[in-house]
Amino acid sequence: MLQSKIVGAGHYLPERIVTNFDLEKIMDTTDEWIKERSGIEERRFATFGVDTTANMGTKAALMALERAGLKPDDVDFIIFATLSPDYYFPGPGVTVQKELEIKTVGALDIRNQCTGFVYGLSVADQFIKTGMYKTILVIGSELHSNGLDLTTRGRGVGVLFGDGAGAVVMQPENDPKKGVLSTHLHSQGEFADVLCVKAPGNFKELKFYPGMLEDFEMITPQMDGQLVFKNAVTRFAEVIHEALIANNYTKEDIDMLIVHQANLRICQFLQRQLRLPDEKTYNNIQKYGNTTAATIPIILSELWEQNRLKPNDLVVLAAFGSGFTWASAIIRW
Ligand code: ACO
Repeated sequence: MLQSKIVGAGHYLPERIVTNFDLEKIMDTTDEWIKERSGIEERRFATFGVDTTANMGTKAALMALERAGLKPDDVDFIIFATLSPDYYFPGPGVTVQKELEIKTVGALDIRNQCTGFVYGLSVADQFIKTGMYKTILVIGSELHSNGLDLTTRGRGVGVLFGDGAGAVVMQPENDPKKGVLSTHLHSQGEFADVLCVKAPGNFKELKFYPGMLEDFEMITPQMDGQLVFKNAVTRFAEVIHEALIANNYTKEDIDMLIVHQANLRICQFLQRQLRLPDEKTYNNIQKYGNTTAATIPIILSELWEQNRLKPNDLVVLAAFGSGFTWASAIIRW
């Protein structure tokens, strides 16, 4: 059977930088609180009329294709992960297909929040392994900023998220020891309610019920931060070890650990636990906040442009988020 590999990575970030000091002006928060609790210093916010979830994904995809030496026409399948689509339906995958003017290839949308990109990579890996598709775009893109409660009422969540997009191109690899070695996907729906946006939804008799727009706890993200934090730390460690064990590797074999950026403290805890030096991991939450499904492909793209992913490097991806869902992938670069 074929393996799959990443042959190009790209990203796009909106121009508008919003610092913690900017947030201090619109809600009761401080740069110190945000930095100390999460590591975030600034994030990017989309500009209305310029950025959408789909077109940020398209821009990231174009960069990934260019770096792969490919053209949009070479793509035979699109996978798009987001929790912040432009339309309620259809998902943004078809918009990317239109914007890239790629014939009538299939476009699949994935809703697995912070874990969405790793789920997408896993789906692409299966399609390539079976020979069904040869060139797959896997995109993660989020436009959080216009759905956040950026007042003191929503400060527990509003300060954490940012906008952006990342994408990779995947193709077959003939060497069985290279490319995506395995992926590991998990979920635990009993925790669905502790990190979610509920409305509009079918849990109400009327999807758009009277008073919905004033029902901020329903229409903006709600999170039991400490419960999420505790579960994240445990599940990240588990799923990283699961990937290492499945491939007979130990933590000493890791060349690059890429962890979803929900909180710098979680990333640093994992780095300490795995005893990895700074050069074997990469954090960008300081600059972008939590960009959910876009985080891991943005990191892959930044590492790509810094030439920090070398042939034969063992790269481990791990994500945890709403659902709960968590996942890992292990790649021989
Ligand atoms: N500014 C100032 N004070 C604040 C703010 C803010 N922005 N937000 C909350 N506070 C206050 C709270 O009101 C609370 O005050 P109180 O003690 O008087 O009640 C105090 O700060 C402590 O709040 P906590 O929520 O307990 O703070 P905590 O130390 O847990 O940090 C955080 C919060 C950063 C959200 C943390 O819990 C966390 O990172 N959780 C995990 C996030 C995560 O992994 N998410 C998964 C991915 S997201 C996805 O899938 C969509």
